[in-house]
Amino acid sequence: MALQTVRWEDGHLYIIDQTLLPTEFKEIRLDTQEAVWEAIKSLRVRGAPAIGVCAAFGVLVGFRQLAPPDAGSARQAVRQVAGYLATSRPTAVNLFWALNRMRAVAEHRDAPSDVETLYARLESEARSILEEDGATCRAIGESGESLIRDGDGVLTHCNAGGLATAGYGTALAVMFRAHEKGRRFQVFADETRPLLQGARLTTWELMQAGIDTTLICDNTAAQVMREGRIHLVIVGADRIAANGDTANKIGTYNVALIAKAHDIPFYVAAPVSTFDLDLSSGDGIPIELRGTEEVTQGFGVPTAPENVRVYSPAFDVTPSRLITGIITERGVLRPPLEIAIAALGGGQTAFA
Ligand code: MRU
Repeated sequence: MALQTVRWEDGHLYIIDQTLLPTEFKEIRLDTQEAVWEAIKSLRVRGAPAIGVCAAFGVLVGFRQLAPPDAGSARQAVRQVAGYLATSRPTAVNLFWALNRMRAVAEHRDAPSDVETLYARLESEARSILEEDGATCRAIGESGESLIRDGDGVLTHCNAGGLATAGYGTALAVMFRAHEKGRRFQVFADETRPLLQGARLTTWELMQAGIDTTLICDNTAAQVMREGRIHLVIVGADRIAANGDTANKIGTYNVALIAKAHDIPFYVAAPVSTFDLDLSSGDGIPIELRGTEEVTQGFGVPTAPENVRVYSPAFDVTPSRLITGIITERGVLRPPLEIAIAALGGGQTAFA
């Protein structure tokens, strides 16, 4: 897959506008910190790792916009832009992880004292975040590919593909790698109400890769499991607490429950940067609430009475006890997840 979800060229930030897919493939340039914030908020760029990569370059965009005259105001500019971009979406910890990395460059005790050199160092950090994401996703694919056997049916929810990362995906990386190795299997993609990331993005990516793909409505998952067509579930993650509780797209918890009821293994695929060891359980994960209109008139067509009350959390938390394993770039973590996760070390601290 040669997707470039986020691209930095000649000092400019480009993203694929995912709100237009699959009917239109268009790159847009984000020239202000406000444009970067809006692109994240409105899901033009989305998926936990992709948001982090985009925000890292967003710090450069904001830095240039503020044009700080000296080192002191340059450090302040990085703090200000990072703080602003951190308010775009609350759940995916990769956003805060990437912004913290950018801030750490500016606040390092050996940070350059001239603005140009500091900018160059920030640019190099953002590029590293992008490049590391590529290598990490490949390693996730390699860690998990053997879980998919010939003839399997795999169910996924939302989009944890190239579009959700810098280009190769997490849950879909496992499928891409198994496919590259010649395994034959079928993927069932939940459409993923209300913004249809499964229907619009996951099927688009899988079909381009030549993988046998079937789109199902979200409420069809239990039936296809009952029909014996699903052998394993693989989904992505937005934030994983220290005990393995996992926030991912709303509806993931439903899938985990019905997978358990059918004795089907349920895997999460995610980079280590998605673990938030500051949170002992999923209870502390902030869940984003989305606007009414995404449910009542998604894609412009009214589908509910005007003024109806709507509750639309963008994510839910799947309890650790429902998770068979977490596929990371360092291998597959198995229960007890709390112990396997602690052994990874590290952890994120989200700043306000
Ligand atoms: O609201 P979205 O589209 O950003 O939600 C994305 C997901 O829930 C993905 O599954 C998750 O970020 C993992 S992406 C590798």
